Amino acid sequence: MCGIVGYIGKREAAPLILESLRKLEYRGYDSAGIAVINEGRVSVRRCEGKLKNLETLLDRDPMIGSIGIGHTRWATHGRPSETNAHPHRAGDVVVVHNGIIENYLDLKEQLTQRGTKFSSETDTEIVAHLVAEKVERRMDFLEAVRKSLREIHGSYALLFLNQRDPKRLIVAKNSTPIVVGWGDGEAFIASDIPALLDYTRKVTFLEDGEVGEVSVDSFRLYNGNGKSIQRPFKEITWDAVAARKGGYRHFMLKEIHEQPRAVADTFRGRISLKDGEVSLEDIHLTANQVKQIKRVHLVACGTAWHACLVGKFMLEEIAHIPAEVDYGSEFRYRSPLMDPRSVLLMVSQSGETADTLAAVEIARQKKAKVLSICNVVDSSIPRKSDGVLYTHAGPEISVASTKAFTTQLTALYLLAIALGRRNGNLSRPQAKKLLGDLMHLSHWMEEALKLESEVESLARDLTHSPDFLYLGRGINYPIALEGALKLKEISYIHAEGYPAGEMKHGPIALIDETMPVVVLLPRDRYFQKTLGNLKEVESRGGKIMILTDEEKLPSDIPSFGVLTVPKASHFLTPMVLSVPLQLMAYYIAVHRGTDVDQPRNLAKSVTVE
Ligand code: G6P
Repeated sequence: MCGIVGYIGKREAAPLILESLRKLEYRGYDSAGIAVINEGRVSVRRCEGKLKNLETLLDRDPMIGSIGIGHTRWATHGRPSETNAHPHRAGDVVVVHNGIIENYLDLKEQLTQRGTKFSSETDTEIVAHLVAEKVERRMDFLEAVRKSLREIHGSYALLFLNQRDPKRLIVAKNSTPIVVGWGDGEAFIASDIPALLDYTRKVTFLEDGEVGEVSVDSFRLYNGNGKSIQRPFKEITWDAVAARKGGYRHFMLKEIHEQPRAVADTFRGRISLKDGEVSLEDIHLTANQVKQIKRVHLVACGTAWHACLVGKFMLEEIAHIPAEVDYGSEFRYRSPLMDPRSVLLMVSQSGETADTLAAVEIARQKKAKVLSICNVVDSSIPRKSDGVLYTHAGPEISVASTKAFTTQLTALYLLAIALGRRNGNLSRPQAKKLLGDLMHLSHWMEEALKLESEVESLARDLTHSPDFLYLGRGINYPIALEGALKLKEISYIHAEGYPAGEMKHGPIALIDETMPVVVLLPRDRYFQKTLGNLKEVESRGGKIMILTDEEKLPSDIPSFGVLTVPKASHFLTPMVLSVPLQLMAYYIAVHRGTDVDQPRNLAKSVTVE
C-alpha cells in the first residue's frame, strides 16, 4: 500500500505534490519521490525515509514545472532505499505505482533478454520499461500504456509521465484505488481523497480495468476494451479527518474492511495454482534444508502470538513439521531445545517488538535457522532474519491489530504449504486444493463483513456486560483468544478466551445469566463436542452468542444471537471467523465511547522489554 499523487495545471507541481503526499503518508513512509516535467525534460528526486527527507532535498534543489507525479512508498518488492523509491524512469517514461505486479519475474526475464538494464529491485520498474520501449518506437503514449497493461497481471494504480508528450498524464487502475479531482484548468490525481481535499471536492473514481488520459482541460476515460466512457464527477462532502480514514469513523473499522484486499495481496504473486507450488524466494530455503527441519519454534507477542497458535495447526497438519509456540517474553528466559535443524519463526506486525526480537540471540547461539513473518519491510526483525515472508497488509494504524492478524494467518498457511511440498509431506493435488481454497478467501471475508449491522445491534445489547467468555476448539481455539483480546484491548471489558472443552475445569464457575458466552461453532470435526459445551453453558443460564458457518443449527439450541458466516475450508475458517469478532469488539467499544484507535495504556509497537 503506497500513496500516489499527480498534478497537471498552471501551479508549480512539486510543492503541491509534496503537500498532497503528506496527506497520504499514512499509506507508506519508507521512501518518497517526485518527478516533474519542465521545458520538455523530466527530472526526478527520490530519497529513502520519510517525506521530510524529500522536503529537505527539494528545499536544497527545487523542481520547476506544472505537470508531475509523486509517491510515498510502503515497500513490497525491494527493500526501502533511494534506488527502489518511486518514481521509476525508463527512457522518456516515468511511473509511480501502488500494488503488486504478479508476473514481474517473467516480464523481467523477457526484458533482460531484449537488453534492458534495471536499476532497482522493484516490480514497478518493469512497467516503466514496457511502456518506454513502445514510446521509443514512436507508439502513441496512451496506446503504449494500454498495450503494456495487457502484459501485466496483478494489482495496480499506475500514473505515467512522458517527457516526449508533456501535456497529459495517463492513469490506470486494477484492484487498487485511484481518484481524479477536478479544478479550474487543473487536475489532481491521488490514491485517496485526503490528498485532494485542499484543492477540490469534485472527483471521478476509476474502476478496475480503466485507463484515463488527463490534461489541463480534458479527461478521457476508457474501459479495458478501449471503449470511451462518460462518468459524471462526484461531490465529496467528507471533512479532512474522515477522508484520511476513507470515510470510516475509525482506522480500526477501515482496517477491518481492508482485509479481503490485504489477504489477497499477501498471496498474490507467490503461488502457482497450476503447479500447486508456493514460491519460497523470500525465505531462502532449499528443498534439502526443508527436509532437514526437525521443529519450528514460533515466537511472538499479543495478537501475533495468536496467529502462531493457528500456525502450529497449519505446520503440523499440512507440512507434518512439529511446532512449538512461545511468547517472546517467555522464550527469552527459558532454555529451548534447539539445534541446527530447528527453525525460529518470529511473527510480528511491526518487526520491532523487543521480546520477540530477543529470540534471535538464542536461535543464533544454537545455530538454528531464523525466519520471520512481518508487515513492516526492513524493520529490525526481518533485518536479523535469514529469510522473511512479508504480509502485504499495508500500514496498520489502529493499535488493535486486525488486518495484520489475518494476513499473518495467510502467510503461515502459505509457508505450511511451501514446506509441505518441499519435504514431501504434501502431494501436488493436495497443495492445489489448498491453494484453490485461497482463491475464495477474500470473497468469504467480504461475506462475513456483511454481518456488520447484525453485529452492531448485538453489540448494543451486550455493551454493559462486565465479563465475556469466548469458546473455540481446534484451529479456532486461538480465534476465541483473539476475540477476547480484541474486546479487552478496546472496550476495557474483562474477557477470557478458552478451549471449549476446558471450560468445565474452571471458567464454568463464572457463568451466570449476566455473562455473555461467545461460542465459535463451525461445522467441523468438533461440532458435536462444542454443542455439548454449549448445553453446559445453557444449564448455567449464560447468554449464548453463536458464531457459526452452519445454516441449519438444531432447533433446540438456545441463543441470544446467531451470526452465520460463509462456509470456508478448514484452514481458512480462522480468517473468516475473525471478522465478526473484530466487528463485535469494535462496536461494543464504540457504544461504550472508548478511544478505539488509541486505547489507554497500549502501544502499537512495544520496543522495550
Ligand atoms: C502490542 C500491540 C499488539 C500487537 C503486539 C505485538 O501489544 O498493541 O496489537 O499484537 O504488540 O506486536 P507486533 O508488532 O510484534 O506484531
